[in-house]
Amino acid sequence: MKIGLMTSGGDCPGMNAAIRSVIVKAKKYGFDVVGIKRGWMGLYNDQLSEINLDEVSNILHLGGTILGTSRFDPFKQPDGTKKILDNIEKNKINVIIVIGGRDSFEVAVKVARLGINIIAIPKAINNDIAHTDYCIGFDSARAIVCDCIDKLCTTAFSHHRVMIVECMGRDAGWIALMGGLAGGANAILIPEVKTDIELLCKQLHNRRASGKMFSVIIISEGVVLPNMSKNILESKDKSGRMRYDRRNTGEALARYIEEYTDFEARVTVLGHLQRGGTPTAYDRIIATYMGIGAINAIKDRIFNIMVAYQSNDIYYIDLEDVLLNSPKLVDLALYEEAKLLYDI
Ligand code: F6P
Repeated sequence: MKIGLMTSGGDCPGMNAAIRSVIVKAKKYGFDVVGIKRGWMGLYNDQLSEINLDEVSNILHLGGTILGTSRFDPFKQPDGTKKILDNIEKNKINVIIVIGGRDSFEVAVKVARLGINIIAIPKAINNDIAHTDYCIGFDSARAIVCDCIDKLCTTAFSHHRVMIVECMGRDAGWIALMGGLAGGANAILIPEVKTDIELLCKQLHNRRASGKMFSVIIISEGVVLPNMSKNILESKDKSGRMRYDRRNTGEALARYIEEYTDFEARVTVLGHLQRGGTPTAYDRIIATYMGIGAINAIKDRIFNIMVAYQSNDIYYIDLEDVLLNSPKLVDLALYEEAKLLYDI
């Protein structure tokens, strides 16, 4: 059995932990693994090399991915299908493991339909992939958000300011909700719930009136605020993917707050800091179990599935079903409950 292993899409902490466990478990069953460089781009360009135990020693704690990554879609190239199939055949690959997010899985499904065996491992700091409680990278991202809110609280307190923290997440507010809850944000704004700016300003006034001189608001990049132009809302990157960062939701909100209140507002955009650095223990552990799960699936000849984590266990979910039901949005009951803690 020869496995092609790639990491694809936006990087995140925990990818290396998954690579490491795939290799260690594969070797136990005597499977060969070839590393595909920079996701689907590496398969298209035939950039592959054998990957052994030595290469995965001492990488557990490293952020990013030793295999490199890209947001490349081979099916957007005129010769994409041919090159992918030729390179799979040339390298004698029997199954491809993709550690990726929704866009990478879209490509994986198309490859599977060509008759190639696929195993998907979900990574996404946004935690927006359906049928899994957890995606690799999410815990590290929310921990970074929490840490930044802790830091911003001290300066907000000193200056009696409203601090706005803009986080990632695309259409799903998981990072804002969980990072904001952990950091004790005084308001959490997510794309799933329409923002009521008037009400928010009232809440800021009420907090001030009760003697709390500062506030921290976390806003997700995917929130739509009044008067955002069509151009901004539809801005795309080179690969045709929506640029949510172009919305500058933090800045837009700060302008409204300064217009409707007499509070001073400052914005911190956390950006790619949320994808950097050392993975948390939780990310390392889940990534490790998902990597093992992927190899167990191959041993049992279960293909075209995603390795999911649900209620403390590993499950195999049909990959097409995952895409049908994604993105996984925030549970609104959880969001409502979080509001209880806004004024503390
Ligand atoms: O999908 C993860 C994500 O981090 C999004 O939240 C964000 O909009 C996007 O990636 C940024 O992508 P890039 O690295 O291409 O700027």
